[in-house]
Amino acid sequence: MGIDQRTQSDHHIWWHNAAVYQVYPRSFFDGNGDALGDLVGVQNKLPYLAALGVDAIWLSPFYPSPQHDSGYDVADPRGVDPMYGTLQDAQSLINAAHDHGLRIMVDLVPNHVSQDHPWFQAALAAGPGSPERARFHFLDTHSDEPPNNWVSLFGGPAWTRTTNPDGTPGQWYLHVFDSSQPDVNWTNPDVAEDWIRTLRFWLDMGVDGFRVDVAHGLVKDMNYSDLPDPVGLTEALRFDLDDGSPEMAAKRLLIENSGFFDRDELQDIYATWRAVLDEYAGDRMAVSEAWVPPHRASRYVSPTSLHQIFGFDFLVVAWDAEIMQGTILKAMSAVADVNAPPTWALSNHDSPRVVTRLGGGEVGQARARALAVVAHALPGAMYVFQGEELGLADADLPDSARQDPVFSRTKGAQKGRDGARVPLPWSGAAPPYGFTESTTNTWLPQPDDWAQVTVEAELSDPRSILNLYRTTLHERRAVTGPVTFVDSGSENVMIFSRDSGFHVAVNTGSTPWDIGAMFPNCSVMVSSDMQVGGKEESLPPNCAVWFIA
Ligand code: BGC
Repeated sequence: MGIDQRTQSDHHIWWHNAAVYQVYPRSFFDGNGDALGDLVGVQNKLPYLAALGVDAIWLSPFYPSPQHDSGYDVADPRGVDPMYGTLQDAQSLINAAHDHGLRIMVDLVPNHVSQDHPWFQAALAAGPGSPERARFHFLDTHSDEPPNNWVSLFGGPAWTRTTNPDGTPGQWYLHVFDSSQPDVNWTNPDVAEDWIRTLRFWLDMGVDGFRVDVAHGLVKDMNYSDLPDPVGLTEALRFDLDDGSPEMAAKRLLIENSGFFDRDELQDIYATWRAVLDEYAGDRMAVSEAWVPPHRASRYVSPTSLHQIFGFDFLVVAWDAEIMQGTILKAMSAVADVNAPPTWALSNHDSPRVVTRLGGGEVGQARARALAVVAHALPGAMYVFQGEELGLADADLPDSARQDPVFSRTKGAQKGRDGARVPLPWSGAAPPYGFTESTTNTWLPQPDDWAQVTVEAELSDPRSILNLYRTTLHERRAVTGPVTFVDSGSENVMIFSRDSGFHVAVNTGSTPWDIGAMFPNCSVMVSSDMQVGGKEESLPPNCAVWFIA
């Protein structure tokens, strides 16, 4: 059923409980034989995505870019990079996705542009004091030191000095990320206007939603005041994962007071965006990537702001039933007061893959499956990063292959995010595993031991994680009702119920747990180890089940 028919037949708001699949275009599927993923490749695989049971696709940036940060350095937000195709390919993909009943979300990167963006080039050419420079954060200093002690999230100072035409040192510009990603100045009216144009451009092409990159970062402290603890902040800003500890909470606080995150003025910007989105039919939406503490989250999801905020809790949650329960409660209550649905993600292109994070090897595999079985039974929207459904682990890359600016800017102290971004394995027993027909090496090398985790291999294995995802992503649409936690009597077993006797249990301990003793009439519907039948009495370690009782 296509999108239009579905909208007319019921008034269900699609993003309230959508499962959204994140496509990282460069590594998804090569449709034109040049060893790089592209938009035609995504279109070719729409039947795969529809059969997986997702409702929407979020495309990471495919805009013209010099690719210093894998496309998050955008040179033209209203175009398509030739390496990914053309605007016609984008239009064709949007239409074809709708024909498959899938929504399309695109990524917006409003915090910064690429150094190749015409605005930044014009600013460099125009010189100090010009209207062109006023679209960015250019400052003078009277010494060789940067204007303040702000740090880049990718390591090193957040300022880079320009050189004047006569070769003398010039002004400094702000970049919260790589020096190739100058931050734009959101107090400048040109910036706000141009972003409205970009929103309308993609809405007119028929996209259903936006993912807003660094949504909490657009507005800066215009006094550019020094930070009290830049060293602590440098640590806190690392892309390493939060383990939920009080130490990490303190780091988050530092970020909150960083001078460039989560400032109140942001909400005026999103109110304008919301008004534009609301003009369009079809429940268009925006999800914010805003790393803010729970008590600030609801500000990004209100009728005068954006629609969703990513819940990053499962990216970091410890393998511990009690912590998991607390995390779920916290995530749900963070958005409950504005009546917004929570969102869940086990992985994305900025994090280690969940299998790796939860221990790697067989244990990591089992836990990743179990966490998915838990997450897919929760209310709200689910974000699935490409390859998560195959149970991929982070690829162990040689340093010489790494491309993430995090690796180079920290001089290798942090390995960066490339391990999760390796091209997907589709078929066959050796690289490139059907990803491309080209014999050229893929942009990041694929591991030699992926023959068993290709789409082809997993589709033919009834116990594969792919078949588990296909089951739970389809079935989750029928799961309704509030989450009620049930005391299992064990600190290692978390149980919650939804409507109609539907229960979920997960065992994070090291010994089996006797479900039958507590639920004598339980009937297991789904088990994360795909061993349904004959095992209803026992929940093994690192396993989760859906059951009726
Ligand atoms: C994106 C990253 C990117 C950064 C700068 C993040 O939020 O998800 O991949 O490097 O923004 O755009």
